[in-house]
Amino acid sequence: MGKVISIVGGQWGDEGKGKIVDFLTEKADIVARATGGNNAGHTVVVENQKFKFHLLPSGIIHKSKLNICGNGMVIDPKVIVSEIETLEEQDFKITDKQLNISKNAHVITQGQIEEDLAKGGKIGTTGRGIGPCYAAKIARTGKRMIDYIKESTKEGKLLKPLVKDTYLIINNAINSGKNILIEGAQGTLLDIDHGTYPFVTSSNPTAGGSCTGLGIGPTKITGVHAIMKAYITRVGEGVFPTELGTYEQIKKEDAYNDLKETLGEEGLKQLRRRITLKANEDDAYNQGRLLRLNGMEYGTTTGRPRRCGWFDAVVGKYSVMINGLSSVIITKLDVLSGLKTIKICTAYKADNTKISSFPTDMNILNKCEPVYEELPGWEEDLTNISKFEDLPKNAQNYIRRLEKILEVPISIVSVGPKRTETIILKDMFF
Ligand code: GDP
Ligand code: IMO
Ligand code: MG
Repeated sequence: MGKVISIVGGQWGDEGKGKIVDFLTEKADIVARATGGNNAGHTVVVENQKFKFHLLPSGIIHKSKLNICGNGMVIDPKVIVSEIETLEEQDFKITDKQLNISKNAHVITQGQIEEDLAKGGKIGTTGRGIGPCYAAKIARTGKRMIDYIKESTKEGKLLKPLVKDTYLIINNAINSGKNILIEGAQGTLLDIDHGTYPFVTSSNPTAGGSCTGLGIGPTKITGVHAIMKAYITRVGEGVFPTELGTYEQIKKEDAYNDLKETLGEEGLKQLRRRITLKANEDDAYNQGRLLRLNGMEYGTTTGRPRRCGWFDAVVGKYSVMINGLSSVIITKLDVLSGLKTIKICTAYKADNTKISSFPTDMNILNKCEPVYEELPGWEEDLTNISKFEDLPKNAQNYIRRLEKILEVPISIVSVGPKRTETIILKDMFF
């Protein structure tokens, strides 16, 4: 039997799933997406080249691996064709040896995109037609890939050779000893059942979605690992207990490219210095701004500035439980460099009561104030460090403290966007 490793987002998305999946792909035979659509934006940086994927699994840049878009996905044909064409312009050849799409995956229509654009504002959706497409699927009025390719559109003709019974391909592969890597999309707190409803997406990004979204039985899954940033971010509307600054303040900020254009490199450096000073005077808005600027927290899909906050361990522990995690992977530790003090939210307080487990009642969650534990930070740049022991003592202590609070091993610490900027603490994968 091959190993089946599921990588899920442990927070509100954008945790670095693309980077980690690309890093782990070397030892996998198949990389598969099980849920979501082009609301996902996964960035992979290889040397100096940056790839952004919305629908294609991040394993697609490893030319010898098979990638699968599973039945649980919703696919906009124009977007997937454009992603394939972009790769082909970069000398990748995408045939049915590299990419298979499930016959049962649902197809996003133009009408569904328009409906999402018209009605999704309250939730702050990505406007890609995700909600309306999943709604049609559940109402049993949706269109599936198998029917879509029978229509002779340009996209239908191009996709036809790739559309297969992917459940069979993947299960045969597992039975013949091949390793499967499942690339989650979105994050646990965006889950339609377990997330901050109604400010969620319309699928199950949690571990169970890996099974239903691909047709793999739960007994075949050999490990579930969630990625969590060393802090936390959120895009779009909805409750966010550890948010630094208010969403209203953030909405007024420029996108990174506009900032860079107006200020230039030197101006940006000065701004960073000013923000760091204020952040270290315990100015919450500037602490968030520092995370945003240093972490380049601007959406891959929409370019929106992401809301930033301190690591929320109440959310973290909820993720450990809901996903049955084997380990946690911490990304973006490098972003915290320069902060004198780092905070971890260990509980909430509402109506003078301490709350330690994640409340699913949004009326309670909306009232929750974070209870923080403070740890000393570090100055050093972490990006060139490849061994855990070489990290500054305070960075090591921060990771060890998170591990203790979350009560699961931390298997990987990521200190930069590149493959090489990855520290393995415990190899629990293939
Ligand atoms: P995903 O949706 O979970 O795949 O995450 P995104 O790609 O939307 O956002 C993560 C961003 O952080 C991307 O731009 C990555 O290149 C970048 N990234 C990933 N890991 C690290 C890290 O450890 N440090 C830094 N500085 N950037 C990282
Ligand atoms: P990745 O895979 C962050 C958010 C949207 C919105 C809500 C509903 O890159 O981590 P939708 O278009 O899905 O109906 O929007 O969910 N959202 C994400 N936030 N990362 C994502 O994906 C997201 N996919 C959806 O911002 O708040
Ligand atoms: Mg993303």
